[in-house]
Amino acid sequence: LDDLLSEGVAGRRVLLRADLNVPLDGDKITDDGRIRAVLPTLNALREGGARVTVVSHLGRPKGAPDPKYSLRPVAGRLSELLGAPVAFATDTVGESAGATVAGLGDGDVALLENLRFNKGETSKDEAERAAFAAQLAEFADVYVDDAFGAVHRKHASVYDVAGLRPHYTGWLVQRELEVLSKLTGDPDRSYVVVLGGSKVSDKLAVIEALLPKVDKLLIGGGMCFTFLKAQGYEVGKSLLQDEMIDTCKGLLEQAGDKIVLPVDVVTAPEFSAEAPTETVEIGQIGAGSMGLDIGPESVVLFTRVLEPAKTVFWNGPMGVFELAPFAAGTRGVAEAITKVDGFTVVGGGDSAAAVRALGIPEDGFSHISTGGGASLEFLEGKQLPGILALEA
Ligand code: 3PG
Repeated sequence: LDDLLSEGVAGRRVLLRADLNVPLDGDKITDDGRIRAVLPTLNALREGGARVTVVSHLGRPKGAPDPKYSLRPVAGRLSELLGAPVAFATDTVGESAGATVAGLGDGDVALLENLRFNKGETSKDEAERAAFAAQLAEFADVYVDDAFGAVHRKHASVYDVAGLRPHYTGWLVQRELEVLSKLTGDPDRSYVVVLGGSKVSDKLAVIEALLPKVDKLLIGGGMCFTFLKAQGYEVGKSLLQDEMIDTCKGLLEQAGDKIVLPVDVVTAPEFSAEAPTETVEIGQIGAGSMGLDIGPESVVLFTRVLEPAKTVFWNGPMGVFELAPFAAGTRGVAEAITKVDGFTVVGGGDSAAAVRALGIPEDGFSHISTGGGASLEFLEGKQLPGILALEA
């Protein structure tokens, strides 16, 4: 982006790929962190006099318009944050988009409707993707990618379009890569990774990649129950991935004492904020109960492991933090990480949203990544299509 700004952007049409995939409750944005994260790049382009067309996906619509996933509320919030109008196009490459882009003056901003309302965006058929990318490129003299959360996707707006126009890396993507590279290099020790979230299968690749590198791997969230089951505990109605039990057994054997699991959990008979809760030791989960958060003894245990850490990466909530009775585990671990005297990174949309929803000061962490899957795949050492396209 610095190169582009020094070349000069006044009057040039810039296609800015952002990751504005924010959580919504109806048409209310519940966490605008990803919108705020792209503001430095967007403001720099505006101040340089660029005519900026912002594009993004939201959720996972199936290649056709679906009002649930409209970016319209995001256009409103973006406009508030910029303190300037944002022209919203009701399609992505159709008449509305064409007219909206054509109407931009120097320093103006437009947001096009959800990229994933078009089959070509995510298509596995290279020709279909290329055709959609070509339509997007029609709106641009240059392309800037600042959608770190989407760089692991081989999608038209992330991968193909970069090959069609002069392409530049936005400041958010640049900073994310700089920060996350510290974790893949030679991190200061001890290096502790905290993983949560619901599914072991989503985290398997990152666990395998990280185990040889970390000193301790703390596991909470819904995924811990498949590990506990692998250790022989009964987990009642807790989330369980039966098909992953053997894999978890293998990981536990391979890990020696590196993997640390909860010692107690907060349970309830059902997934509800109104249900009566009970905190029990692992091994005491009743057949009719489900674990919905790690318990206070587990927070103490995890805190003790985190205290001497010099590098921490955290991805995934420890429990159903959105429901007040099951938020203490995530809060406790997040607070323990803020007290670490070292380099601490929060990765993932959910964990970043948890930090903000629980009112934990964001400056308590060295970095809060905007990438969920992207930051995990980066740590796995995978080649990320969006980054490859920018380097080409
Ligand atoms: C995310 O939320 O991690 C990014 O926006 C990517 O979304 P996706 O997993 O639907 O591609």
